[in-house]
Amino acid sequence: MALWSGRFEEGVSEFTQRFGASLPVDKALYAQDIAGSKAHSAMLANQGVISQEDKEQIHQGLDAIQKRIEAGDFVWDINNEDIHMSVESELIAAIGDAGARLHTGRSRNDQVCTDTRLYAKQRAKDLMAANLSLREALLDQAQKHFDVVLPGYTHLQHAQPVLFSHHMLAYVWMLTRDFHRLEEAMNAADANPLGSAALAGTTYPLDRFQTAETLGFSRVIPNSLDAVSDRDFLLDLMYACSVSCIHLSRLCEEIILWSTSEFGFVTLSDSFSTGSSIMPQKKNPDFAELIRGKSGRVVGDLVALLVTMKSLPLAYNKDLQEDKEGAIDAAKTLEDCYVCAAGMISTMTIHPDAMMAQTKKGYLEATDLADYLAKKGLPFRKAHEVSGHLVLLCEKRGCTLADLTLDDLKAECDLFESDVAAVLDLRSIAAARTTYGGTGNEAVKVQLQEALAAFEADSAKLG
Ligand code: ARG
Repeated sequence: MALWSGRFEEGVSEFTQRFGASLPVDKALYAQDIAGSKAHSAMLANQGVISQEDKEQIHQGLDAIQKRIEAGDFVWDINNEDIHMSVESELIAAIGDAGARLHTGRSRNDQVCTDTRLYAKQRAKDLMAANLSLREALLDQAQKHFDVVLPGYTHLQHAQPVLFSHHMLAYVWMLTRDFHRLEEAMNAADANPLGSAALAGTTYPLDRFQTAETLGFSRVIPNSLDAVSDRDFLLDLMYACSVSCIHLSRLCEEIILWSTSEFGFVTLSDSFSTGSSIMPQKKNPDFAELIRGKSGRVVGDLVALLVTMKSLPLAYNKDLQEDKEGAIDAAKTLEDCYVCAAGMISTMTIHPDAMMAQTKKGYLEATDLADYLAKKGLPFRKAHEVSGHLVLLCEKRGCTLADLTLDDLKAECDLFESDVAAVLDLRSIAAARTTYGGTGNEAVKVQLQEALAAFEADSAKLG
């Protein structure tokens, strides 16, 4: 019989028991549940609501249960709907009346969100650590191949030459923002709902600030109705996970493209590739594809809870039981994606020659040719047109801008002189973009220092 069975004459069917249970999902929160119960019972004893002896027995009983769970000796029984009732009924079976006093002044409604908040805080922190490993892998590649030049793209068409390190750092900054979003999610979870009881608080002299301190919550939720029905912190966590997964999908998309025969910019290590069961020559970027694909389920997790929350009246409703599965999944999926991406990035081989070869195609010098004329006094719009004509000439001749002679250039505009050769060098073109945040070597050095400093500062937050 369930712990709440007093007012019932019949039990639920086996099907509804299973349908209503959250145990298969929330047993992942056993450590948080036990920590919450220890904090609650210690506070009850300090406030004189239960005796110190009861509290001692409760703590010993809970520690024994935790050991059994961790040793795999705990028998999970679906008749105990969720982790809260599983632990509590086991405790009562083991220690009797002292165990039956644990739930004084408490409801599963404040218990479940206490557990979930503790869990969300921990998982956000785990993800922040995994985020740093991927940033480190990208930063390493950026440093190792600092000077390598590749075509920068817009519309997936060759645009202007950029440094490989600049390209890698773009992802480092995305991930730096993701770290801060995870940190925000951790802070959102960092508030104590315990002591709100079912919805309205309780008549016992509970000290919610004491349990907050014991559990490491930095603040106490000021409204009991809000406390038991708020799941924003899970939405925040899943939003942070979703955005980061989207960033990973963009990174992986580029890795997939770059490892095609058409690009040949990178080769993935064998340990992050798979073969084909029919085509012996194949080496597929499966793991990059899988990371790209996993973004779908994480965004789905977020959307599922958003829709579950929509129109929910105060305070606790059983709908809220749907909150944990997606959140657990989103965090686990992102964590795995971070680990996989870090391994893949740190072991991939870069092919600078293939990157450089591509910069020779697609007239990447055209903007600089126009800038050359504009710097000699021709209005930029006119200079743009001259450069466009020269591109057209190259198209017709089947040559590159660098192949044109000074006479060819002069025929289009007499401002061209022999010093134009210097602006047509692709490395110099990249290097000349010295604006803060630009791809010029000096600017990227500054940027790299900033990215490393942000990495150090974020690492320090995790202690
Ligand atoms: N298993 C429930 C959940 O995950 C715990 C809270 C249940 N409270 C209730 N009054 N039925 O949300």
